[in-house]
Amino acid sequence: MLIRVPAAFEPSPSEITPRLVYLKRRELIAAAGLLAAGTGHGAAKLLATRSSVAGAVVMDKLTTQQDATSYNNFYEFGTDKADPARYAHTLKPTPWSVAIEGECAKPGRYDLETLLKLAPMEERIYRLRCVEGWSMVIPWVGYSLAELLKKAEPSSKAKFVEFTTLADRGQMPGLRSGVLDWPYVEGLRIDEAMHPLALLAFGMYGEVLPNQNGAPLRLALPWKYGFKSIKSIVKIRFVEKQPRSSWEQAAPREYGFYSNVNPTVDHPRWSQATERRIGEESSSGFGALLAKRRQTLMFNGYEAQVGQLYAGMDLKKNY
Ligand code: MTE
Repeated sequence: MLIRVPAAFEPSPSEITPRLVYLKRRELIAAAGLLAAGTGHGAAKLLATRSSVAGAVVMDKLTTQQDATSYNNFYEFGTDKADPARYAHTLKPTPWSVAIEGECAKPGRYDLETLLKLAPMEERIYRLRCVEGWSMVIPWVGYSLAELLKKAEPSSKAKFVEFTTLADRGQMPGLRSGVLDWPYVEGLRIDEAMHPLALLAFGMYGEVLPNQNGAPLRLALPWKYGFKSIKSIVKIRFVEKQPRSSWEQAAPREYGFYSNVNPTVDHPRWSQATERRIGEESSSGFGALLAKRRQTLMFNGYEAQVGQLYAGMDLKKNY
């Protein structure tokens, strides 16, 4: 039985993104969404219009850009939260291309310039809930993953989609560690991948993705634990059998294929009932003790949009 917590959907006035911030960001998102040579990847702005996908509107206060770009998980650059910001400057996000393979009529390779122009960019504010118990609220820039997938015309055998991250030792010092079996691989069922909420993100905070956040393109899957939102994608493959993700491979009892946010299914080593919002806690002393923990919401608050995908499924078994 899925239980909703309506109170958590009613933001206090301080949680509503101030209109001023919203307008300022729209002005910022000014230039064409192209990584013009010479301007430098990090300086490029992305053109986007605001969108609320199928009624998914997040009213929570945004995580600061500083926090979202300095507290990261990107194990290809180390396992410490500060490692990606410190070391990901060696990642070269241009030139870049993504191979589309497997069970489809039109496989191919798309370069980044083509991908950026493939569909109109939208800004979407999503909650990101990490399996470790923290969360952020991030304004992504991108378009629905379905826009790209449907160009490949997946066949009836395409039951799942497998995603692969770049694995280049020269660019990614973390690959020397055996913490995961590289490359980083993730997977979705085809209907999950085609759901409009599944975002192919090229930017955040109106700018192109910083390297530490998964430049030049990544997934943002707001109803799933953060590790499903794979970064720096180089390959998308339509497959018939359920792919085995890197985390499932590393610890199958702890990380399932679905990994939908679910406060009623605990991780074997900790509860998933609550979360701490990055930026809300005091880092030490008495403040840390008083830090608010928030109720974690079923499907991270996106049950109205995605609940139907899992109708009739045992979500304890399919964790
Ligand atoms: N993708 C790759 N390739 N490597 C990673 O280590 N970490 C995942 C996910 N995508 C990861 C990844 C995890 S655990 C989380 S919580 C999110 O990225 C973090 O995204 P952020 O750093 O932009 O907040």
